[in-house]
Amino acid sequence: MDIHSLQKEFETRLSSVSDVKQLEELRNEYVGRKRGVITSLLKDIPKLSAEERGPQGKRINEFKQLVEDALEARRAQLEGAAQFVEADWSLPGHEYHVGAIHPLTLVRRRIEDIFREMGYAIAEGPEIETDFLNFTALNFPPDHPARDTQDTLFVDRLDETGKNRLLRTHTSPVQIRTMLAGKPPVRILCPGRVYRKDEFDATHSPVFHQVEALVVDEGITFADLKGTLLYFLQKLFSKDVQISLRPTFFPFTEPSADVSVSCVFCGGKGCNICKFSGWIEILGSGMVHPNVLENVGYDSEKYSGFAFGLGIDRVAILLYGIPDIRMFFQSDIRFLSQFRVIP
Ligand code: DAH
Repeated sequence: MDIHSLQKEFETRLSSVSDVKQLEELRNEYVGRKRGVITSLLKDIPKLSAEERGPQGKRINEFKQLVEDALEARRAQLEGAAQFVEADWSLPGHEYHVGAIHPLTLVRRRIEDIFREMGYAIAEGPEIETDFLNFTALNFPPDHPARDTQDTLFVDRLDETGKNRLLRTHTSPVQIRTMLAGKPPVRILCPGRVYRKDEFDATHSPVFHQVEALVVDEGITFADLKGTLLYFLQKLFSKDVQISLRPTFFPFTEPSADVSVSCVFCGGKGCNICKFSGWIEILGSGMVHPNVLENVGYDSEKYSGFAFGLGIDRVAILLYGIPDIRMFFQSDIRFLSQFRVIP
């Protein structure tokens, strides 16, 4: 039989091989050391005439190579198929973790979106501040209790000239930074991390988050503050909440108001969350104190403004019904992975 026919026959035989054992038999039959078809062809070469030996040897070797390659390829196929069949489909699959956005980030973004729609710019400032920007420029008197080491975390106390560095106790210094950097009108929202020397318990944390809003322009009145707060809080809580303003004191605003919303849980009827008052205190606000405007070089006769600040952590606790502020900081994936959307 000539090599061409042998090759055809081999290919037919190979295509009907269905397991590794049959494959080995076929290998033996063609390239086996003792009785292999190709082996004996090679053995017969010396019987050929001198001219024929070379070309015939080349043809046989090419055929041998083809056979070995084809056997190897088929073996890989059969072994792959064997693995496939042996797979245990009852084994659990690989687990893929999809990240979730931190609840505090979700709430911050929601607040930012509400104000961005109203044309506010987002402003940020550093967490290490000077005594001047955190207190003095905001009209805190030199002996104000918040300036005490009991309340404020100082980075260093260089001297008494206002050059002390501290961890900002509120986002209000961003008001000063923004006003020092430009002229009115100002309309900004500043989210950020703030620090106080507080215990770490269910309702306190030495680090928490605030957003600050500041508007300064000609003719800004308390009515603008009230309207903005009502609009904002109704959007934030997605309910027709009512607001209540009570006079209070902040060094940097005059007049100042503590703002409460009608309880988002009971609608104002009274429940555990609102301590049966129907109201939940949510933020501090007021009309920017003329001293603050003057401290940044704004003419307080010409310009007026309002500001407010609220705790993001507190809003998140209310929106999600979270019982303990520490949960935000413990990086427990079982807790954190539950937050995808704002309720
Ligand atoms: N800075 C205040 C605080 O940390 C919050 C605040 C109150 C900010 C009234 C304001 C404001 O801008 O007008 O408690």
